[in-house]
Amino acid sequence: MAERDIDYFQLVKEDRIHTSVYTSSAIFRDEMERIFHRGWVYVGHRGEVPNRGDFRLKRIGLQPVIMVRDQNGVVQLLLNRCRHRGATVCQEAQGNTRSFRCMYHGWTYQLSGELSGVPGADGYGEGFDRSQLSLLRVPRVEEYRGFIFASLSPAGVSLEEHLGRTRHEIDMFVGGSDADEVEVVSGIHKYSYQGNWKLAAENSMDGYHAAIVHASFGQALMDKIRMTEGGAEERSNRDIASFRGNTKDLGNGHVMLDYKLRIYDSLNGDPTPTVRATTAEGQARLQALVESFGEGRAHNMLREGGTHTFIFPNLILIGIQMRVLQPISADRTEVCLYPTLLKWLSPEVNRIRLRSHEAFFGSASFGGPDDSEIFERVQDGCAVELEPWQQLSRGLHRERQEDGVILGDLSDEVTQRGIWRQWKKVMMQRGPLDHARKRSGNGRAVAGPQG
Ligand code: FES
Ligand SMILES: [Fe+2]
Repeated sequence: MAERDIDYFQLVKEDRIHTSVYTSSAIFRDEMERIFHRGWVYVGHRGEVPNRGDFRLKRIGLQPVIMVRDQNGVVQLLLNRCRHRGATVCQEAQGNTRSFRCMYHGWTYQLSGELSGVPGADGYGEGFDRSQLSLLRVPRVEEYRGFIFASLSPAGVSLEEHLGRTRHEIDMFVGGSDADEVEVVSGIHKYSYQGNWKLAAENSMDGYHAAIVHASFGQALMDKIRMTEGGAEERSNRDIASFRGNTKDLGNGHVMLDYKLRIYDSLNGDPTPTVRATTAEGQARLQALVESFGEGRAHNMLREGGTHTFIFPNLILIGIQMRVLQPISADRTEVCLYPTLLKWLSPEVNRIRLRSHEAFFGSASFGGPDDSEIFERVQDGCAVELEPWQQLSRGLHRERQEDGVILGDLSDEVTQRGIWRQWKKVMMQRGPLDHARKRSGNGRAVAGPQG
C-alpha cells in the first residue's frame, strides 16, 4: 500500500477496525510522525533523575533522547546525537555523569547541552561557533506533577489541553503528592513482545479479558480466599468476580477502567498494615483523601494505586506503576514498568506497594506474561487477510454520557473505541512533515522537527 493512498477514515469504523492498523509498516511510519513526533508523548518522571548529573535514556517515537538533571537542577530533554557527525553521545541506559563525551572525535557537552570541548579546536576557521552546536533540545517540554511530556513539534495544543480530565487521574495516582514526593528509583521491569504497540494500549484498559486470560490468577485468589479467616461478606468482597466498575472515555484518546484495585488486599489475606504518613505534608494529603473517599478506600488507593488510566498515546497508570509503551516497529514493542513509592508513606506501606505490584505485573508475575502471550497471538492472527476486520462493538448499544464522558460497563469496549477515535482523528491530520515528504517523493520525512 503506497503511503499516500492510506485512507484512515476507512480503516477505523465505530464498531470495527481493519487489521492492517497492526501490521502495516507504512501505517507505523505515519504513526511515528503524526502521533509520536508531532503530538504530546510521555517521556519520564523527574523522580527518575533525583540528583544533578542523573540521566536516563528515553525515546520520543524512534528518536533517542537523554533525560538529564543538569548542573542547575533543571531536568533537560536533549536529543542524543552529536552535532559533529551524528554519533550518539550517551549509550548507558541510566547513570550519573558530569558531561557527555562523544566517543568518535571527542566533542564534549555539558549536562545542559552546551558544547564545551572540541579536540584540536584550532583546526576550525573563524566561522566556527560552538554556541550554535549544543545538543538539540526537545522543542516543547512541559510537566504535570513531575510527569514530563514532550513534543518534537514547536507548535500545537498545550499540555493542559491535551491532558484534559486525566490530570485528575494523575492526582489520584500520586495521592495528591508534589512532583518531588514521588520516588521512581525502585528499578524497572522491562519486556518486549512481537506485536504492535496498540495491542498493549487496548489490553491495559480491557475489562473483558481478565477472567479468561488471567484464569490461573483468579484461581489462586480463590484458593487464598478459601484459606482466609473472616466472614462470608469479607471473602466475597475479595473475590475477583465481585469487582465492579465502569469503562470511561475521558476524551483525547485517554480512557480508564474505574474500579477499585484489590490485588494485594485479596491475595494477601493477612491483616494489611495501617496506612501511615511520616511527614506533616503527607499527613495533610492522607487526611484530604480520607475526607474525599472514606478511610477504607483512601488507604486502599495508597497501598495499591488510585487509578487505572491510559494517557494517549504511550502512558498507562495502573496500580502503583507507570507503564510506558515504546513502539519499535509495526510488529515489535518494548514495555517499561516503573513502580512508584511516595516519600511520605511509612516504609511498611511502601513495601506493600512494591509487593502488590510484583504479584501481578512483573516480568515473572501472575498477570503480565499472560497478556504478552495474547499480544503475539493477535499479531499472528492478523496475518489472515480474508475478511480483515476485528470487532469493537461490545456495549456500543448501551453507552451513556455524563458530563462529556462516555461510560459503559466494566467489560464494554468503550475504552478501545475511545483510543481508536483519537487515533483516527490524529492520523487523518496532515501536517508540514507530510507535505515535505510528499514533495521529496521517497516515502520518508525529509525534515526533522527543527527543520
Ligand atoms: S561524531 Fe561526535 S565528535 Fe565526531
Ligand atoms: Fe491482562
